[in-house]
Amino acid sequence: MSTKTVTVLVTPEDCDAFGSLGASGLGRVLERARWHAFDQPGGPAADVFTNRGLRPAVRKLTLEQYEDVAAGEWLSVETALTQQAETSFTVHQTARRVADNTLVGEGDCYLVCYNLDDVPARLPDEVSGFFGTRPSVRPGMTQHLAVNGTATAVDIHGDGPSLLFIHGFPFDRTMWRHLMATLTGWRRVAPDLRGMGLSDVAGRGYFMSDYADDMVRLLDILKIDQTVVAGLSMGGYVAFEMFRRYPDRIRALILVHTRAEADDEAGRAARDQMIATAEREGPAAIADAMLPKLLGASTIQAMPRVVEHVRTMIAGTGVEGMVGALEAMKRRRDSRDLLPTIDVPTLVVAGSDDQIMPAKSMKKMAAKIPEAQFIVIPESAHLSPLEQPIALGRVVGEFLDAL
Ligand code: MLT
Repeated sequence: MSTKTVTVLVTPEDCDAFGSLGASGLGRVLERARWHAFDQPGGPAADVFTNRGLRPAVRKLTLEQYEDVAAGEWLSVETALTQQAETSFTVHQTARRVADNTLVGEGDCYLVCYNLDDVPARLPDEVSGFFGTRPSVRPGMTQHLAVNGTATAVDIHGDGPSLLFIHGFPFDRTMWRHLMATLTGWRRVAPDLRGMGLSDVAGRGYFMSDYADDMVRLLDILKIDQTVVAGLSMGGYVAFEMFRRYPDRIRALILVHTRAEADDEAGRAARDQMIATAEREGPAAIADAMLPKLLGASTIQAMPRVVEHVRTMIAGTGVEGMVGALEAMKRRRDSRDLLPTIDVPTLVVAGSDDQIMPAKSMKKMAAKIPEAQFIVIPESAHLSPLEQPIALGRVVGEFLDAL
C-alpha cells in the first residue's frame, strides 16, 4: 500500500491568537494536505465524489501535536489509507517540518461517503485504486489486542517486512514515535509491554521471558513469521530473551543503549530501593530521580518537550507495572553467553553521553557479536529515539536498507 506525500504552507489563519499552530490548526493543515494528495492524477479528488452525487464527511478525527509550528513554515504531510470498508475509509497522516524533518504531529481521519439522500453510499473505486491494495487491519491507530490474556496496546504503521520496537523502562511505545513515523517501507509495530503505557497489568512476579513470550504471541496474532527487533535498554533485555527462546523469529537485531550483563549485587539492591520509592512515593518520584540520567544536559536545556514527554511516560506508568518490570530486570539472566551465537545482522547503538549504558561498554558488547555494527549517536544520552531522532533514524534506515 502506498502513501502520498505533499508539502503545505502553514498560514496565519491556521494559527491561534498567539501565532502558533494548535491542534485545531493542525486539523485544518492535514485536511488541506489530504485534498492536495487526493487531487493528484488518479486520486479521489472532490469531483470524483461530486460527479457521482456523493460527498465524503469526516466523522471522527484524532490528532496529536508534538511540536510548535508558526505561520510561514512548510510541512511535509504523508497520507496513508489505513482502513477501508464499503462506505467508509480512514487515513493516517503524519506532518513533519520541512526545515529539519522533525515530526510535528499526526492524526487519523475517518470519513464516510454519503449520497444526495444522506445515506451512506459505496466509495468510489479511486479511493483504494489510488492507495494500492486494501489494508487488512487498521494500522496507524492504537489497537488493544489480547496477548497471553493481557489487553496490550500496540501501534502499527505502514506495510512491508516487519520491524518490532520494544521500549525501555519505565517508558511506553510512544518513545519510538519518530522512528515509527519515519521508516516507511516497513510494517512498524510498537507495543506497550505488560503493565506499561496503555497495556493492562498482568499480576506480579513475572520474568523477562514473559515479556519475550508476549512479544512472540503478538507476532503470532499479527501473522508475522520473522521480524527485525529493535530494543532499547530493558527492551534490549527482552530482545536478548527473544533471541534465546525464539531465534527463528528474528531477522535482525537493533540493540539501543542496552547491556548483556545481569544485575550485580549492587544493581539488585538499587532495584529494591527503587521498588520501595515507587510504592511509597509513586511514579512521579521515579521520574524526578531518573530524568537527569536519562537525558543529556543539552537535551534538558534545549528540548523541554522531550523532557515533558519522558516525564509524562514515567508518571503515567502504574506502580504495579513499574514494580513488575523492576523485579523482572532484577531477576534477568546474564546474556553474555548469547553474544557469540548471534548470527543475524545486528546494529548496536550507543549514546555519546549515556551514563546508564556507557558507549565504551556497549562497544565491548558489540565486539563479541559476530559482524555487529557499532554506532555512537552524538549528543545523546540514554534516549536517542527522542533526543536525536533524525540521526538515529538515518543510522537505522541505512541498516535496514542493507538487509
Ligand atoms: C531502561 O532504560 O530500560 C533501564 O535503564 C534499564 C535498566 O534499568 O537496567
